[in-house]
Amino acid sequence: MTTDAVQKPNVVSMAGIASRNVPRGAAIRLQNLSKTYPGATQRAVDGLSLDVADGEVFTLLGPSGCGKSTTLRMVAGLEQPDEGSIHFGDEAVVITDQGLSLPPEKRNLGMVFQSYAIWPHMTVEENVSFPLKARRCGRAEIRERVAKTLELVGMAGMEKRPGPLLSGGQQQRVALARALVNEPRILLLDEPFSNLDAKLREQMRLEVKLLQKRLNIAVLFVTHDQVEALSLSDRIALMKSGVIQQQGSPRQLYDQPANEFVRDFVGKTLLFRGTVKAANPSGALAISLEGAPECVVFGHTSDPGGIPAGKEVFIGVRPEDVEIQSTAGDAMPAGVVSGTVRAALFVGERVEYQIEVPGQGHSVIYGGRHDPRPEGSRVWLRLRPEGHSAWLSDWRGSDSDS
Ligand SMILES: Nc1ncnc2c1ncn2[C@@H]1O[C@H](COP(=O)(O)OP(=O)(O)OP(=O)(O)O)[C@@H](O)[C@H]1O
Ligand SMILES: [Mg+2]
Repeated sequence: MTTDAVQKPNVVSMAGIASRNVPRGAAIRLQNLSKTYPGATQRAVDGLSLDVADGEVFTLLGPSGCGKSTTLRMVAGLEQPDEGSIHFGDEAVVITDQGLSLPPEKRNLGMVFQSYAIWPHMTVEENVSFPLKARRCGRAEIRERVAKTLELVGMAGMEKRPGPLLSGGQQQRVALARALVNEPRILLLDEPFSNLDAKLREQMRLEVKLLQKRLNIAVLFVTHDQVEALSLSDRIALMKSGVIQQQGSPRQLYDQPANEFVRDFVGKTLLFRGTVKAANPSGALAISLEGAPECVVFGHTSDPGGIPAGKEVFIGVRPEDVEIQSTAGDAMPAGVVSGTVRAALFVGERVEYQIEVPGQGHSVIYGGRHDPRPEGSRVWLRLRPEGHSAWLSDWRGSDSDS
């Protein structure tokens, strides 16, 4: 195994990670990967292809059992795919057709998993130095590299602390240091924050993002938490039953969901009935709301066949794209629908109203906490004029595979 550290034993600067000579092109390329576990009737991963660029955080997102960990374990070499190939830069790591598969220790990657984050019977130093000892590095180099890496994750000076005397967040930082100490070209993270409490999870999310930017390494991240995925990722692949449903930037998945499953897994959506007034070939639509034909909004369909004018549709509206307004007099202004507040739930930073709109049913709409609307009052709802999605059915996906 040749690494910079072996070639230049005195260079222990973490800047070395950023400047290392990574091959051009995708840092990780997965092509047509499939895996069926022995005895299973369904594929755990089914024809999965994706590229992770250098310096990118790429997230596999999806419900429990959709194949995220299986994909990550195939990249790590802990599972063998039945079909497909894996490349790291220009290097072939797995080509099933040729019987090629590098063993895990030859793949030069760092990994952090949700469970068994660190070895509890060891000190911080013993944990972090473990991968270096396995590579038979010298004692002075190990000491220096461990100190540098601990500094990087905000644990400087805690070398001698035993594993059981660390908080959950500190344990995750040690696990991160152990994954980074070998200066890997790729970091694999499988739900690394899920056993931390909510506040610490947010803090670690930010720390990992900053660290990743500093090191500029490719990160393949697994989570079932959409907020974690949206906030941490450059790109996301949303999976269901082993198949990628959509891949793109967090904004693309949120603003232009490719199907109902993506729409309902990433964020919340209100569905309003409407009729297409005009359609253009790119999929852009002008839609009038049922019960308020003067209220016309613009949206987009991801249906490859488009949706023709005259068709009844469901308009997918993100809750934050609806504003609640007071009614002033009886004349309804253009661009609003009228509704009645049926319930108001104060949840701290906002109030969640259940609002009944004639012909539309009930919708949960968010309002500001400084401007409360009493139950029973009439309100106007102003939809953002554009940026909605349009759907032919009110199909509601399930958040779980199981
Ligand atoms: N070692 C195994 N042997 C047999 N089946 C397995 C094995 N590991 C996973 N599976 C099955 O493969 C499918 C995908 O599992 P995987 O662990 O990849 O899901 P996941 O997306 O990581 O889910 P989670 O969010 O719950 O961790 C599931 O149906 C699971 O039951
Ligand atoms: Mg998993």
